[in-house]
Amino acid sequence: MRLDELLFSQGFGTRRICAGLIERGLVEVRGSVCTDPGTQVDTETPELVFSVQGQPWAYHAKAYLMLHKPAGTECSHRPGAWPSVYSLLPVPLRQRPTAGKVQGVQAVGRLDQDTTGLLLLSDDGAFIHRMNSPKRHVAKVYEVTTKHELDEKQRDRLLAGVVLDDDPKPVRAAACEIVAPSHLRLTLTEGKYHQVKRMVAAVGNRVEGLHRSRIGGLALPAELAPGQWRWLGASDLALLAG
Ligand code: URA
Repeated sequence: MRLDELLFSQGFGTRRICAGLIERGLVEVRGSVCTDPGTQVDTETPELVFSVQGQPWAYHAKAYLMLHKPAGTECSHRPGAWPSVYSLLPVPLRQRPTAGKVQGVQAVGRLDQDTTGLLLLSDDGAFIHRMNSPKRHVAKVYEVTTKHELDEKQRDRLLAGVVLDDDPKPVRAAACEIVAPSHLRLTLTEGKYHQVKRMVAAVGNRVEGLHRSRIGGLALPAELAPGQWRWLGASDLALLAG
């Protein structure tokens, strides 16, 4: 791939801006400055690392990442009252082109402003669709702090299914465990609007805190602090596919 095309594909600006960065000697490929935008770069080599203005960047043909979403952030490109989760990502991830258009990575589903935990983001439309599809039943695990102490009746009703106000078909938890008097671990395989909060309200309780700890076989790593992100590797993607 041409070097200017490579930079463009990774989100470093328009083709013109990328060519300018290269001509000004601001781009290094595998440790050597490269000033010709037409230089052919082998992207197939396992780990292609280049740098732009001293910032190292690993080439990824497609972007798959996880973010530990902090409270007080919105999963929207045009947030209202709260900062956007996208503002936690470096600029190239927000500028990656899809089909030639600058779109950046997109969140796989949404979490509420006050929900924390595991959020996946990608620029691979097919992956986003697969992960969101209710037909695939990808399990999402939520740690729920409730206002009132939980009882077995509430747990059993969540497992049996509750009717929400926008659909006569009951929604049920795929798994539900009372971990502590006010801590419920709830597994869902769909993603309706405010689903956890509405299901917990339907059994007469109230969500005071909500944290997503797992999607499929992929758990939020303990070392990823709120607001931090990291790339997903092949083993992470395998855990999501399983
Ligand atoms: N269910 C909710 O109610 N809120 C979320 O953020 C996610 C699931």
